Amino acid sequence: MNICIQITMAEEAKPFIELLDFKNINPLNTPIPHNLYHTNIEEKIIHLIVNGRVSDHVSYLGTEMASLISEASLRLLKPDLLINAGTAGGKQSKGLKIGDVTICENSYYHDHRISIPGYHEYFKGNFSSTSKYFSSIKNLKSLIPSTISTGNSFEMNPSDEETISSLNSSVKEMELCAIAQVCSFYKTPWIGIKAITDIIDIDESPTSDQFFENLNLACKNLSISLRDIVTALKD
Ligand code: ADE
Repeated sequence: MNICIQITMAEEAKPFIELLDFKNINPLNTPIPHNLYHTNIEEKIIHLIVNGRVSDHVSYLGTEMASLISEASLRLLKPDLLINAGTAGGKQSKGLKIGDVTICENSYYHDHRISIPGYHEYFKGNFSSTSKYFSSIKNLKSLIPSTISTGNSFEMNPSDEETISSLNSSVKEMELCAIAQVCSFYKTPWIGIKAITDIIDIDESPTSDQFFENLNLACKNLSISLRDIVTALKD
């Protein structure tokens, strides 16, 4: 089995690289900035692709980069399964807390606005993770099944907030729906795993300080869940 794991920030990937002893290998033949790593677990070939950096501490992020990196990964690595892993904001009113690890059941965009009939439905996203791979791991006890929504802002405006509520989304991040969309073109199953760094439904909106304070805990938990997932996955 050939698995590709896509992670946006080097900080998010670091504990997982250490845990599974990934080796840095030559990048893919694409000008899109990224770093590529490889390891094996039993008979499984695992590639980890991590977005490149704009500068020392700034990673390329958001849906455009996510689409470009997943397209290159799917075309050149031809994985049986693409896993998008990373961090996200979560709703405490849905029972989520800092450090929880969620698995995506349904994926939407929360910042796409177009009222034109036909376009409106398609532009919301709406991808479900329903593959045999998803079924084989969704009951791992560390994973909280969630609706996850994607937008190109860390901060929420009132429209994002309203859409997130109407979608019944409990997790907010910046890549997954774009990756699910690219996977749908390649007919490749996908799984979304997001660890919570900040709470989005309290009076004070999440700050970058809150994100960085909780990043280590969230990414440590993420790495353990990812290890359990790749160990449990079966063809
Ligand atoms: N990643 C981590 N926290 C986030 C948030 N609140 N919004 C979008 N992406 C995030």
